[in-house]
Amino acid sequence: MSAVTRYSFDQIGKESIIGHPDRLKPIRILRLNANASNAAVHFMNLKKHILGFSIFLPILLSACSDQSTDRQYVIKFSHVVAADTPKGLSAELFKQKVDERLGGQVVVEIYPSSQLMSDDDSIEALAFNEIQMTAVSVSKYNRFTKKLQVFDLPFLFNDMDAVGRFLEHEETDRLLGVLDDKGLMGLGFWPSGLKQLSANTPLLEPEDARGRSFRIQESDVFEAQFLTVDAVPQKLAFGEVYQALQVGTIDGQDNTWSNIYSEKIYEVQDYITETNHNLMVYIWMVNTEFWQRLPEAIQDELEVIVDEVNAEVMAMAIEINANDRETIVQNDPDKLLQLTPSQLEQWREAMKPVWDRFRDEIGEEVIAAALEANNS
Ligand code: SIN
Repeated sequence: MSAVTRYSFDQIGKESIIGHPDRLKPIRILRLNANASNAAVHFMNLKKHILGFSIFLPILLSACSDQSTDRQYVIKFSHVVAADTPKGLSAELFKQKVDERLGGQVVVEIYPSSQLMSDDDSIEALAFNEIQMTAVSVSKYNRFTKKLQVFDLPFLFNDMDAVGRFLEHEETDRLLGVLDDKGLMGLGFWPSGLKQLSANTPLLEPEDARGRSFRIQESDVFEAQFLTVDAVPQKLAFGEVYQALQVGTIDGQDNTWSNIYSEKIYEVQDYITETNHNLMVYIWMVNTEFWQRLPEAIQDELEVIVDEVNAEVMAMAIEINANDRETIVQNDPDKLLQLTPSQLEQWREAMKPVWDRFRDEIGEEVIAAALEANNS
């Protein structure tokens, strides 16, 4: 049963927390320049951005008093993957640390496996503080910002070490703030692994993808990259991928080893080509207003916990993907297809034109910083 309530668009102005009297109390400013006086502008911007989509409103309002010590704060954290994936375990680690150090004052409720809502819905629910946290793939923020598209460029990173170096670059710090004006505060990037391509026919050269349909996330870059190899990209929610493959609505997909394993995608795909062609990375987000209205002592402790969790995510992702790859391959060694250097080069070359198409939207300096991470 859903733990959230849907409201119609017309109800927003009447019940939004943005108009709540407590909103005008002084709040500690973290990395944002948000202030009480821009609440109306913020709300109008939100309306502009989400017009045309179904809208959520909070049923549980956030803090009533900035410095109250006797109330409990609930952080609903919704995500779409299984609990034993890099994201699931990172969320669990956050919860564990909060339980240990803020037990009683802050309660983290995790809703994995799309049980509460899809990623798309969760972005809207987060904006309206109906849930307080998400870690959605950056690719799904495509309609809110073009800057995060850098992470979607095909064959951008040589390996996860390069990803790690890029995530330490100051450019990524800026990227973390690109949704500040939407009332969404970035807490960190959670790298989840490089993606592999799967289908029921062998995919060894770009030519093999011609005419085949592939599920993609909500990303214009992914759409363009599949079009460059004359494939047919189809945007689909993660929770629908298994069934779409099973019934043959789509021919293939791409994802991390962890998602291919935990979502049982390997059961409905005969071949997985180890392409490592794209990165899966999440942006860990909290509703800004919820965060800023927490008592300072709680914010301080949460900031420490956030840093601790961020420091562990990469190692967890690398280990889980390696284990899940191993399990799939041991179960059926013929499923794994590895590319020769020349085949890999063909895929790289075929998809390279996509970079030029998105270069201006992303910004040359961000792409340069990502490339630099490959060479460090
Ligand atoms: C995930 O959050 O890992 C799922 C991303 C997808 O839609 O493939």
